[in-house]
Amino acid sequence: MESKIKWYILGGFTVGILLILILLFGTNLNHRFMMGDNSTGNMNGMGNMHGNGGNGMMRHGANIDLATSSEPPKPLPIPPELKPDRETEGAVYYTVRAEQGETQFFANGKRTPTLGYNGNLLGPMIKLPKGKTVYIDTVNRLAEPTTFHWHGLKIPSKEDGGPHQPVKQGEQRRVRLDIEQEAATLWFHPHPMGSTAKQVYQGLAGLLYVTEEGSEIDLPHEYGVDDIPIIVQDRLFERDGTLNYDNSMNADGTVGDTLIANGAINTEFDVERSLMRVRLVNGSNARNFEFSLSGGETFTQIASDGGLLEEPVSLDRVALSPGERAEILIDFSKNEVGDEIELQANGIPVNTFVIKGLEKSAADLEGLKEKSSLNRKSSEVDRRLTLFGMGNMVTIDGKRFDPDRIDIEVKRGVTEVWEIYNEKDMMGGMTHPFHIHGVQFRILERDGKVPSANEKGWKDTVAVTPGERVKIAIEFNEEGTFMYHCHNLEHEENGMMGQLKVTP
Ligand code: C2O
Ligand code: CU
Repeated sequence: MESKIKWYILGGFTVGILLILILLFGTNLNHRFMMGDNSTGNMNGMGNMHGNGGNGMMRHGANIDLATSSEPPKPLPIPPELKPDRETEGAVYYTVRAEQGETQFFANGKRTPTLGYNGNLLGPMIKLPKGKTVYIDTVNRLAEPTTFHWHGLKIPSKEDGGPHQPVKQGEQRRVRLDIEQEAATLWFHPHPMGSTAKQVYQGLAGLLYVTEEGSEIDLPHEYGVDDIPIIVQDRLFERDGTLNYDNSMNADGTVGDTLIANGAINTEFDVERSLMRVRLVNGSNARNFEFSLSGGETFTQIASDGGLLEEPVSLDRVALSPGERAEILIDFSKNEVGDEIELQANGIPVNTFVIKGLEKSAADLEGLKEKSSLNRKSSEVDRRLTLFGMGNMVTIDGKRFDPDRIDIEVKRGVTEVWEIYNEKDMMGGMTHPFHIHGVQFRILERDGKVPSANEKGWKDTVAVTPGERVKIAIEFNEEGTFMYHCHNLEHEENGMMGQLKVTP
């Protein structure tokens, strides 16, 4: 009798503890785990937890390792340059359609339903000439609402394509973009309330190149030849080759084991023995990437999110969190014909450069200088923002997104210094890529220290690591209500987003 009671107590106690654990950590566990699901390949247990200090069973973030693909190599797809519908002296007109399609990722012929802009997957490269007005007719041919967000563009909020500018299925909306910023690699993607992460995961993302006459003189700039974009993403394919967002979704950031470069697995790109310009875009939902070359070769970063750096920076690795971009130059002039050099993300090959004949003289990087800079006056902090939480419980300043609440108001023309603090939690926390719409800002300090040379240029997204305080200077020149948020798209969906109103 007594021993029975003991067992009841012990049993009750265990169940209680389990319940508490599930309540505390349930949101963070990939459901595949909890259900022991093995419907997809390559689940490497709790795997790689980069970008956070977590340890043990209950941890933040990416819990699936990237794996080297066994797919046969295929040519790196180069997104087509979008042809204008028409052009006048001061204006360019384009049409961008969000569409449903199918993509063949695998040699076995399996087809994957995907989404794309003017195509089946991803989108075209759209040139936005500085000094011109670009009109884009955005068309929604999806079976659900979407928006067209121009990430990194300095434009009024009504053209920004945030959650407040939905385009319903079957509808069309014209935006007017006055291009007034310097040459840069930006991108566009959907931003509808509640389905941003899913639509990006299914394939919606495209490139915006702000171009400026004369800015390219010394740089490789032949699109698709010596100047190529690589949008890097990770995906978790089901056994049947499909992408199932709901199945793969992780509240702390959806990740996969398979890398795709411009929408293809295990790509190759032929280069000459010369200088290549590669525009890297971290287009993943939630994975932080560190890019390097297979032989540890150095390369030169020339631009960050919003344009050229103050000066070129020689590096052997560059880290990009979701939403960030970097333009790098890789010098293949010393290589032999037939050499193969991999671009790797977190040590896993993304794309192989195959060196093919012809030596060209390398470009002269002297005189490569950014065009404009921000008057940073003092670095006294005007505003402090705190990023906190995990999974479904992520907040900025203790609040979750509310479309009916304006969190910050600033006057147009003002420059403010913000300190973004990533507050650790019980499990250490994780890196949050902090993004602000409608501006390009400067990083002034990371934990009181000047940022590294490759972070001294224009930025619209900045990775803030657990416990870190990052000071940025922002000039607000566009009016309206803009979003600022974590660019881990699941965090954004879970409310790690606020509204900033720039008043006249
Ligand atoms: Cu790239 Cu609010 O987004
Ligand atoms: Cu986050």
